[in-house]
Amino acid sequence: MKKVAVIIGGGQTLGEFLCKGIADAGYHVAVADLNIDNAIKVADEINQKHGAGTAKGFGVDATNEESVIKLAQNVDNTFNRADLMVYSAGIAKAAPITNFALKDFQLSVDVNLTGYFLCAREFAKLMLKHNTAGRIIQINSKSGKVGSKHNSGYSAAKFGGVGLTQSLALDLADYGITVNSLMLGNLLKSPMFQSLIPQYAKKLGIPESEVEQVYIDKVPLKRGCDYQDVLNVLLFYASDKASYCTGQSINITGGQVMF
Ligand SMILES: NC(=O)c1ccc[n+]([C@@H]2O[C@H](COP(=O)([O-])OP(=O)(O)OC[C@H]3O[C@@H](n4cnc5c(N)ncnc54)[C@H](O)[C@@H]3O)[C@@H](O)[C@H]2O)c1
Repeated sequence: MKKVAVIIGGGQTLGEFLCKGIADAGYHVAVADLNIDNAIKVADEINQKHGAGTAKGFGVDATNEESVIKLAQNVDNTFNRADLMVYSAGIAKAAPITNFALKDFQLSVDVNLTGYFLCAREFAKLMLKHNTAGRIIQINSKSGKVGSKHNSGYSAAKFGGVGLTQSLALDLADYGITVNSLMLGNLLKSPMFQSLIPQYAKKLGIPESEVEQVYIDKVPLKRGCDYQDVLNVLLFYASDKASYCTGQSINITGGQVMF
């Protein structure tokens, strides 16, 4: 029987790439996103490549308890199990602390942390229901290990994700479910990073065209993080080969963060 993966925030960018890579690795894929049109589009593209029924798109607001409960029920009704839940939804609102709006701080915590809690809780229940030694993987950031200037909401929420991952790993160890976070470096070509370039240029006092190089120069391996780097590590932590690893926060930063 094919394993089933659920990717929250699977409708675009990294999440889309992970959905397609996980399907290529042989999973059924539930593509879940706030943007249901994108989720359906990604699922359709997977089905065109791997055959009808391989993937299905779902709308979800990961910050809304009812919506997440409904998603878990829909995934159960459609695929009758969940082996892997990847929480990739995220949002970055940047501003100096003296200008940081409370609503932006709260949105950062809601999407980056509370949504992870809700999805991990509901999909852990589904794994337990079907007696599955499943995998929960959070897409985190190097900002979950080191502070990030003008990104207080994002960094605070991502740090919280590390504590949540460790606690979930303890709660779920008895059932053989592992929980790990992937701490990414900058995905330089992503809309999220590109949207922050004007603020970074201002912060650094340089033209926008020079910002990417500044961020490349911070990385010992001298390049940004690629979506494929993330997929490579994720497939390992989703596999049986990683069955002795849980509660970890794994750096994928080209050496930029080493603890
Ligand atoms: N882009 C980077 O440079 C970078 C670096 C490190 C870590 N990350 C992390 O990688 C992950 C993916 O980032 P990305 O660049 O692909 O971002 P993105 O903004 O391109 O995609 C995020 C996806 O999450 C969805 N989403 C947002 N709020 C949601 C909600 N409430 N419920 C369900 N879905 C929701 C969006 O619709 C979107 O499809 C995030 O967790 C981010 O923090 C990104």
